[in-house]
Amino acid sequence: MRECVLISGGAGYIGSHTAVELIEAGYDVVIVDNLSNSEIAAVEGVRQITGVDVPFELVNTCDIEALKKVFDKYKFNSVIHFAAYKAVGESMEKPLMYYQNNLTSFMNICQLMVVYNRPNILFSSSATVYGDAEHLPVTEQTERQPATSPYGNTKQMAEDILRDSCRAYPVLHGVALRYFNPVGAHPSALIGELPRGVPNNLLPFVTQTAAGIRECLSVFGNDYDTPDGTCLRDYIDVVDLAKAHVATINRMTQGKMRQDYEIFNVGTGCPVSVLELVTKFEKVNNLKLNYKIVGRRPGDVPAVWADVKLANEELGWKAERTLEETLAAAWKWEKRVRNIKD
Ligand code: UD1
Repeated sequence: MRECVLISGGAGYIGSHTAVELIEAGYDVVIVDNLSNSEIAAVEGVRQITGVDVPFELVNTCDIEALKKVFDKYKFNSVIHFAAYKAVGESMEKPLMYYQNNLTSFMNICQLMVVYNRPNILFSSSATVYGDAEHLPVTEQTERQPATSPYGNTKQMAEDILRDSCRAYPVLHGVALRYFNPVGAHPSALIGELPRGVPNNLLPFVTQTAAGIRECLSVFGNDYDTPDGTCLRDYIDVVDLAKAHVATINRMTQGKMRQDYEIFNVGTGCPVSVLELVTKFEKVNNLKLNYKIVGRRPGDVPAVWADVKLANEELGWKAERTLEETLAAAWKWEKRVRNIKD
């Protein structure tokens, strides 16, 4: 029988790419999403790319009764939980909304997995848990820093909920994947990142500036202690990131986990500065970007990138796409969404 995976937040940016890669790897997929920060068009995109009429359930994972019906209807052994709010700034203004939404939905998932005797939970965590790390690159053993935002705190708390649950309930197995900076889009340009309002993240701001939607990109600070003074990050292509989920689900469903709860960094292992990313984007896509250097953004860490040895060795996964390919795919997607012709 084919393995089935439930994807909460499967209409979102990373969720939709993960759905495609799982289907292409031979899994059945069920997408659950309340479309609070995503579009049904992403589900259509998944269907178009894969040729599979993937089931979609319009359900808020905070609604446990509605979620139960999904558990009754589909016989999945694994859940990938993406469904969450993700804007750092907003979480500072509305902490209760973030704790309520991000933790309730995750606890509902964990609880129903136990009740329904379903084993595998993959949680979508973030490199944000490392904060401003003393030693770089960060490994999975690097100590987490106290979270500087409610958003970051929900990631840490959910990791702890998963760890403790896997320890207490023999049926459960959990993996937290700590993503670095997910960027890019599917090469088909049928799915990609579509932030509502003004983007907080760098690459969507870059592509929207290139598309003429934003006047000018602000580069937040060039006085950091880094080679060109701008921050260093580990930009991971979203298709590579999606494949890390497939490798993790393979490991879980094939009984290859070494512990009941495991953590993996998912990045490239290569630090890239803001200016390097901007310059490469211009070069690959043969355009000029309007940008200016402004002051630092509060809360930004100067540098963070991943040690990816554990994921390479244990998951048998590594990032494959070049930054050039990623930046070209991001622009191709933005052009399609905005109807820009070459
Ligand atoms: C941010 C969040 C992090 C979250 C992640 C999710 C903050 C402080 N951190 O990470 O918690 O997990 O997104 O994707 O918000 N930059 C500019 N101009 C811009 C936007 C960004 O110069 O208009 C710079 C930033 O200063 C940073 C780099 O680009 O150096 C990447 O920024 P961003 O894409 O927002 O990611 P992070 O801050 O690393």
